[in-house]
Amino acid sequence: MTVLETAKKLGTFAQEMTKREETFSFLVPDEHPLIDTRHNILLYVEGVNKSFDGFKAINDLNLYIREGELRCIIGPNGAGKTTMMDIITGKTTPDSGQVWLGSNINLLAMNESQIANAGVGRKFQKPTVIECLTVWQNLELAMSGVRTVWATFRAKLTAEQKDKIESVLVLINLADHAALLAGNLSHGQKQWLEIGMLLMQNPKLLLVDEPVAGMTHQEMDKTSELLNSLAGKHSVVVVEHDMDFVRSIASDVTVLHQGHVLAEGTMDQVQNHPEVKRVYLGE
Ligand SMILES: Nc1ncnc2c1ncn2[C@@H]1O[C@H](COP(=O)(O)OP(=O)(O)O)[C@@H](O)[C@H]1O
Ligand SMILES: [Mg+2]
Repeated sequence: MTVLETAKKLGTFAQEMTKREETFSFLVPDEHPLIDTRHNILLYVEGVNKSFDGFKAINDLNLYIREGELRCIIGPNGAGKTTMMDIITGKTTPDSGQVWLGSNINLLAMNESQIANAGVGRKFQKPTVIECLTVWQNLELAMSGVRTVWATFRAKLTAEQKDKIESVLVLINLADHAALLAGNLSHGQKQWLEIGMLLMQNPKLLLVDEPVAGMTHQEMDKTSELLNSLAGKHSVVVVEHDMDFVRSIASDVTVLHQGHVLAEGTMDQVQNHPEVKRVYLGE
């Protein structure tokens, strides 16, 4: 590698680190004692509206995610899926409505990093793993959420922290690749690593945008397994276009259309729903 290439890489790396600092938390409690899920609901989205220049991207949206459930959100392009995630994570402020984590944490009163700290993790479509670090180092960094990379690697990991990294490595199918540079992973493996990085923060709620875009069939099967294995411990909300994949996950499905819930139920139920057939499947 030339000096210039190295310098460029470090520049990108520094940029990525800054991005991470915004998204990832610092103090990550293992438990989230503040979240009240006595009603078995982890996320409440109620009567939410959001317009962009007069266009209603989100229109009286109501969504309830149970503790530990895996929910797929489908809907045509422009249905408001990404905007919905932006609102839950504090990236976008709605015009009206309520968003609560459990029945006692008002997410609309918090900024992005406070929401992340409260236990909401988000995986974007494009993987943002740090390519010039190993798989292990990426996980280590995600765990600490530290300000300087070098401090992380100088600090000794506790046995508990090592166990945590090892168990996440197994979960994301990368146990044999811990020492590999993340840049050398396949597209699918990078997606898994990024999910692993979110898991290092022990989120209660995981929001995942189009996890299988660009994956091979084999990778899709493994991703389905991975997401299923996360449910129970975490609530997982997956936005996905690939219908075969959604079917393979076998979770409850919510269909969004014009910023509103059009139908909810099993994949079979929503696929046979007349309105869904009309607007979404083009019948
Ligand atoms: N920041 C924004 N400014 C203006 N329009 C936006 C903005 N974000 C989203 N939109 C519009 O809101 C609608 C919903 O978009 P989006 O949430 O990205 O849908 P989806 O993810 O379901 O494809 C689209 O018509 C989109 O053009
Ligand atoms: Mg989108």
